[in-house]
Amino acid sequence: MAELVGPALTQPGAPGASLDEIHREATICTRCELYKHAAQLVFGEGPKGAEVVFVGEQPGDKEDVAGQPFVGPAGKLLDRCLEEAGIERASCYVTNAVKHFKFEPRGKRRIHAKPTRGEVRVCAWWLAAELRLVRPKLVVALGATAAYSLLGPQVKVTRDRGSVFRSPVGLSVFVTIHPSALLRVLDQAAGRQDRARFVNDLKAIATLLEDG
Ligand code: URA
Repeated sequence: MAELVGPALTQPGAPGASLDEIHREATICTRCELYKHAAQLVFGEGPKGAEVVFVGEQPGDKEDVAGQPFVGPAGKLLDRCLEEAGIERASCYVTNAVKHFKFEPRGKRRIHAKPTRGEVRVCAWWLAAELRLVRPKLVVALGATAAYSLLGPQVKVTRDRGSVFRSPVGLSVFVTIHPSALLRVLDQAAGRQDRARFVNDLKAIATLLEDG
């Protein structure tokens, strides 16, 4: 397992003894500017003792309204792929590298905008606390933003997909794509292949969890 140095997530994160406590504090977070436009902060969700934590990028439009992670189109796709891989979503802790929705208004629509590295680093304060309290066997970085937050800029999703890295805070981190990438594939045959590959990544995660 490769060791990495210098990522965003090197800090112990927000102090606090429970996820509920951290969640309450995070709700009023003003550590970066993103709270000004989002409807609410979207904290992680799932059992405290979850063996696996899935980390996405940031809440989307639906998540911002619902106040829950991965409940929109990418979340529904993730749920179906998890089910196919034999992983129960309810047994997983699901969260994001950045906890507020960043978007650009376009007419009545709110279009996803990528968080900056600075925003990711600031928000790692909350992610680090979640991971410290959940203490999973395995963390899954869904896409480049999560990989950056957990492991730093050396990791490249296309090159490192399917690998497990040891993060500087001692977490085992499996790298794969973000499910929203599957929503963007227009060619049907390519889309089926990409989806099958993602399900295979999830099956590999299930095996790693079984093997302990
Ligand atoms: N994309 C993410 O990265 N996270 C969500 O919660 C929803 C969509």
